[in-house]
Amino acid sequence: MLQLQHVSKRYKNQTILEEINVTIQKGEIVSLLGPSGSGKTTILNMILGLTDVSSGQIFFDGEDVTHTPMKKRGFNIVFQDYALFPHLNAYDNIVYGLKNKKDKISKEEIQRYIEFLDLTPHLKKKVHELSGGQKQRVSIARTLIMQPKILLMDEPLSALDGVMKESIKERIQQIAKEFNLTTIIVTHDPEEALTMSDQVIIVNDGKIAQYGTPEDIIQRPSNPFVKDFILKQLHVKRQNIYRLFGEAYV
Ligand SMILES: Nc1ncnc2c1ncn2[C@@H]1O[C@H](COP(=O)(O)OP(=O)(O)O)[C@@H](O)[C@H]1O
Ligand SMILES: [Mg+2]
Repeated sequence: MLQLQHVSKRYKNQTILEEINVTIQKGEIVSLLGPSGSGKTTILNMILGLTDVSSGQIFFDGEDVTHTPMKKRGFNIVFQDYALFPHLNAYDNIVYGLKNKKDKISKEEIQRYIEFLDLTPHLKKKVHELSGGQKQRVSIARTLIMQPKILLMDEPLSALDGVMKESIKERIQQIAKEFNLTTIIVTHDPEEALTMSDQVIIVNDGKIAQYGTPEDIIQRPSNPFVKDFILKQLHVKRQNIYRLFGEAYV
């Protein structure tokens, strides 16, 4: 279980995030949803340990990790731009992080992640020879191979088009289930958040505007911002919402 308690972030005298309180259970997929600049990436980076909190505490499985260095926390992230090494092939990118890992992972386990992400035919390809979806899968494989306690993803679908988006979305859901892995995803797209998560945290202007299940948020938006942000943007995607929640919410 991951908990953020009264977490705030300030840069100089500017408050970026205020009173962030979140409890995330093991194996859950949770989305951080909000407009650009609302503070989503900063929350993710504070969980990762890349960015310090200004006040408040972060607990993981009951232990206070607020000041635990990133490496010791054992969480891993799939960055928004994939951050692959262009001079290495897909396989070498996938296993790169293992060099500095103390507890070794077996060849069979490496193979399992590669096969799970359908990467076997692409292992020898250089980064520029991979499609967007393949790059994303390499980037996910590279992160999973580190056997993170929590998987963090910053806008994992934003660079992908329709069909690819759906396929990676399903893959992320399978990963969370198969590995019982807590997965926290940043997105600015309400449709993505509502269709792939167990819980959605809506962030607006550095505060949590609403925190609940997709059904909760669709049925009971708790303030005008949520209603506007969700419903206006979803208006154009009625069919998808209809498929998921039925006609009452269209
Ligand atoms: N290192 C930094 N120094 C100062 N301000 C920052 C820094 N990083 C982010 N911010 C500010 O914090 C706010 C939230 O940023 P961010 O978390 O990246 O938002 P999001 O991911 O929701 O688009 C923005 O106003 C951004 O300009
Ligand atoms: Mg961001």
